Amino acid sequence: MSETGLVLPRVIAHRGLSAHAPENTLAAVRAAHAAGCRWVELDVQQLGDSTPVIWHDAGVRRCSNGRGKLRHLDLAQAHQLDVGSWFSPSFRHERMATLDEMLALIVECDMGINLELKVSYRHSPAALAKAVVPRLLAALPPSRLLISSFDRDALRTARDIEADPNRLRLGLLYDKLPKDWRADAETLLAYSIHLDWRKLKPAGASAVRAAGLHLLCYTANDPEVFLPRWAWGVDAVISDDPTCFTNALS
Ligand code: G3P
Ligand code: MG
Repeated sequence: MSETGLVLPRVIAHRGLSAHAPENTLAAVRAAHAAGCRWVELDVQQLGDSTPVIWHDAGVRRCSNGRGKLRHLDLAQAHQLDVGSWFSPSFRHERMATLDEMLALIVECDMGINLELKVSYRHSPAALAKAVVPRLLAALPPSRLLISSFDRDALRTARDIEADPNRLRLGLLYDKLPKDWRADAETLLAYSIHLDWRKLKPAGASAVRAAGLHLLCYTANDPEVFLPRWAWGVDAVISDDPTCFTNALS
């Protein structure tokens, strides 16, 4: 495989191996690696002091022992949180991962990453992309990196930072395929379209593939129910439990 060539696996671990470890943590990525996953999908956003961290929600309540908004925390405060016990007491020592800590682990495990730029209320999409994209480009080869977002402005800033679509792959995240997806994809020189698997229709899948784009679906956890969609042209599925898919695919 060339330095820039990207070959996606059929299954990507959603927020790490989130069926078996607390989502978006170093433990979840280690678990994904131990389970044989080659790629993980993770979410990134910024703390109040601008540090990029691996986190999904705008607040910390659901996945930690704390309360409040992420944007009201600095790194020292964020590191006080126990982000594992909500999932299981055995993860009580887990701490919120910075992007840099997570990238070091991804490199160590020789994995690929689909990093979702998660733009929350009152955060600047451009600031997030500027804080994240240069770190990614410095840490990983293009063959192990795919940036996605629901936010067009965040993706536009990412494309401004690296204009070559073979050096930086961008994925457009949608709930269902909108009418203007082609214009978005052309403007951003996108690599892929990522859709909610329940909203995918055969005609939409064909159109995406005919446009030369890759097609990813999130977040599917039942390989039997998902099965017909492979024949529609889906390239990869993002799953909380990739092991059930890899067993079904082998
Ligand atoms: O990137 C696919 C999926 O992660 C998007 O939704 O809410 O799980 O980040 P969410
Ligand atoms: Mg996500």
